[in-house]
Amino acid sequence: MTLAVCPGSFDPVTNGHLDIFRRASALFDELVVATGTNVSKSRLFSPDERLEMLEEACAGHPNIKVMGFTGLIVDFCREIGAQAIVKGLRGGNDYEYELPMAQMNAHLTGVETVFVPTTASLGYVSSSLVKEVASLGGDVSGLVPEAVLARLEERLGRSGGTHGA
Ligand code: PNS
Repeated sequence: MTLAVCPGSFDPVTNGHLDIFRRASALFDELVVATGTNVSKSRLFSPDERLEMLEEACAGHPNIKVMGFTGLIVDFCREIGAQAIVKGLRGGNDYEYELPMAQMNAHLTGVETVFVPTTASLGYVSSSLVKEVASLGGDVSGLVPEAVLARLEERLGRSGGTHGA
């Protein structure tokens, strides 16, 4: 059985992430979406909240499982028997950021990283930009699942959504 892990902060999960999950899950028998913590990033949602949003968003995909992890991603991969790590790439900056991590992870345990290019129409979507735009009153509907939109509005202290076009 082929098993891959798609790790990330997912703070919160976006439609760009979901596109990568869907396409990566077609390449492996099972895909584990694993939410971890990037210590260099500030967070809006707790680990439990991020996990809940992922579970809601991935429901209905029989070969996608959602898990949380702490510690090294390579140790988590070994624990669950995953052969590969999947990462989405939006462009050159993502590649520059991801390449040393892929090489470090290969060095540590030999686990390979598979890069999946983001669908072009979603290439500008990131959790960071979604949070920034939403916090300043912009419309992020269509960029995140409905349930995530509701949680963003609640967390940012607004009701009735963002005021977009
Ligand atoms: O959404 P992000 O910030 O790209 O997610 C990064 C994450 C959580 C996947 C990455 O920071 C990670 O793998 N952290 C676990 C700790 C680890 O293994 N660090 C060494 C990576 S070479």
